[in-house]
Amino acid sequence: VAARRSYHEKVLDHYNNPRNVGSMKKDAEDVGTGLVGAPACGDVMKLQIKVDPTNDTITDVKFKTFGCGSAIASSSYLTELVRGMTLEQAGRIRNTEIAKELCLPPVKLHCSMLAEDAIKSAISNYYTKNPKARATDLGGT
Ligand code: FES
Ligand code: FES
Repeated sequence: VAARRSYHEKVLDHYNNPRNVGSMKKDAEDVGTGLVGAPACGDVMKLQIKVDPTNDTITDVKFKTFGCGSAIASSSYLTELVRGMTLEQAGRIRNTEIAKELCLPPVKLHCSMLAEDAIKSAISNYYTKNPKARATDLGGT
């Protein structure tokens, strides 16, 4: 009997107890919404961030993922990771960091890519709503 690929316990933990599931008011000015899909499998992830405009810091995060266990675990882990980060820091997160933390096998790499795409999309949505924030960020450093 072939051994079944067993998921890493961190994946199972995030899958069984996903952190920060839910949604926020999409129209709120301080909320950025990212909605992305994985072409490889059709799974969908919605990620929302609430931003403190005084320091461009993410103060709250919520997600809803219609997808496999690795996608749910990736988004759950991502929400814990980005809380408290500045938009600039959060925008630099790579899916490989998520995959490494969760020990995702190569065939599940695209699931963590969904999480990277989702945070990027949420950040750009926030910037679209708050064009001045982006100007400050670019000029600030
Ligand atoms: Fe659809 Fe992952 S392939 S759940
Ligand atoms: Fe498609 Fe995980 S997101 S298999």
